Amino acid sequence: MATVIDLDEKLLIGGEWTEAEDGARFDVNDPGTGGRVGSVPNGTEADVKAAIDAAAAALPCWRSTTALERARILRRSADIMRERADEIARTMTSEQGKPLAEAKGEVEYAASFFEWFGGEAERIYGEVVPPMNGANRVLVLRQPVGVVAAITPWNFPAAMMTRKLGPAMAAGCTSVVKPASATPLTAALVLRCIEDAGAPAGVVNLITSRDAGMVANTIFTDARVRKISFTGSTEIGKDLIRASAEQVKRLSLELGGHAPYIIFDDADLEPAVDGLIASKYRNAGQTCVCANRAFVQRGIYDAFLALLKEKVEAMPVGHGLAEGTMIGPLINEAAVEKAHEHVEDAVAKGATLVTGGERLTGEGYDGGSFYKPTILDGVTREMDIFYEETFGPVAGLTVFDTEDEAIDYANDSIYGLASYFHTRDYARLMRVAERLEYGIVGANAGIISAANAPFGGMKQSGYGREGGSVGIDEYLDVKYVLMGGVGVV
Ligand code: SIN
Repeated sequence: MATVIDLDEKLLIGGEWTEAEDGARFDVNDPGTGGRVGSVPNGTEADVKAAIDAAAAALPCWRSTTALERARILRRSADIMRERADEIARTMTSEQGKPLAEAKGEVEYAASFFEWFGGEAERIYGEVVPPMNGANRVLVLRQPVGVVAAITPWNFPAAMMTRKLGPAMAAGCTSVVKPASATPLTAALVLRCIEDAGAPAGVVNLITSRDAGMVANTIFTDARVRKISFTGSTEIGKDLIRASAEQVKRLSLELGGHAPYIIFDDADLEPAVDGLIASKYRNAGQTCVCANRAFVQRGIYDAFLALLKEKVEAMPVGHGLAEGTMIGPLINEAAVEKAHEHVEDAVAKGATLVTGGERLTGEGYDGGSFYKPTILDGVTREMDIFYEETFGPVAGLTVFDTEDEAIDYANDSIYGLASYFHTRDYARLMRVAERLEYGIVGANAGIISAANAPFGGMKQSGYGREGGSVGIDEYLDVKYVLMGGVGVV
C-alpha cells in the first residue's frame, strides 16, 4: 500500500495562508486506519468574519474583470488540478477513504467544472427586449449576486467544491468555502490550484472549522453574504432554509437522495447489473445519487440477482490506497452502524441476506470502518431501507410485474434527486423518463454526473441546479433596465 500522507494545512483569508485567530487546530484522520493524516486550523467566528471581509473587499475588482480573464483563470485552475492530480487524489483517499482510482476520477470530474464554467463565463449574455412603448428601450442584465458561501460535503471533497466555485467565479462572485471537517485537506489543495492559476487575493477564501453551526450562523447573519450553496443532508438543508429567512438569502440546496434503480425484463442483463453496481457501490455507497432501491421485473429477476451476487462478491474491499481496492471504508463508525441497522431491520422484517451484511474486521480492516458489500432480496415498504437513504454499500432488491407498479414504487419517496432504469424499448424509455419524479434520470446508464448537465433534485432533495448551462444562473441576479424617452416615436 502506498504511503499515507501527512499534511498540515491552513486557512486562506484574503490571499494569506494563516492559522486560526486563537491558534487552535484539529487532526484529520484516515477512515481506513483511524490514523492521523494531517491537521488544519479550527477557524473561529473572527476568522469567518475576516474571510467575509476579504471576499467583500475583493468583490468590486473581481466582478469587473473581463469574462475572458475569469475564464482564463478557471481554465488554468483546471490545468493545474490535472497536473497535481496524483497529490490531490492521494490526499483525498487518505482523508475520505475512496479507492485511489475513484479519487483520480474525482479530480478530473472536479477540474471539468472549472473548465466548463470557464466557457460559461464567456456566455453571460443579457437581452434587449422589444419595448411596449416605442420611445423606450428595455435591457436585461445578468450580474453577479455578490459574496457567496459554499458549504461542501465529505463524500466528494473536490468536485462538490468546484461545482460551486466554478460558476461563482465565472459569474464574478467572490466566495468563502467551508469544507466538511472530515475532508478539509483536499479542499486546501484545490484552493492552492486556484491561487496558483492567478485568482486575485480574496476571490476564494477557506475556513476550516469543527464548529459548523458557528460558521453557518456567522454566514447567515452577515448581510454581505448574498447566497449560500450547500450540499449535504436534507435535515441540515431544512435548518438552512429556516436560517435564510431572516435576511432572505438565496440558497442552492443539493440534499439527500434515495434513488430507485428499475430493471425491466427487456433490459440487457450485464449492462444493467454493471449499471446498478456503478451507481450503488461508487464511493462505497456514499453518494446522494446512489441507487438505494432496485426494482427488478419478475422475468429477469433470478438471472439479475445471480449475476449481481457474483460480481459484488468479487469486489475487493480494502484501504483506498491498496492496489485493486474497489470498495474503501465508510467515512466513520456511525456510517457503518447506519448501514448495519438497515440490514438488520430488513432481515428482521423478512428480507433475505444474499451476501455481506457484516462489518469487516481483522488484518487490513482493524482501526478502519469497513462494511462488506451487501445485497438484500425481498425488500418491502415495511423496511427502513425502502424509505431512508442508507449511504452505505447495501443494495435492496424488490420484484415487480408491471410498469405502473415500478413507477409507483420508484416515486414513493420524499426525495427526488436521481433515478435510473434499463430497457431496450424506446417508447418505454421516453414514457418512464417522463413519469419519474426526479431531477436526474439515467436511462440505460448508472453514472449520470457530468459538468455539462444540470444536477439537482425535486421534492426534499433540494432546489437549484449545479452544472450545465443553467448552473451559472444560481450566481447571477437578473436586472431589468427601462430606458425611457430614448427612441424615435
Ligand atoms: C453527491 O453525492 O452529492 C454528488 C455525486 C455526484 O456528483 O456524482
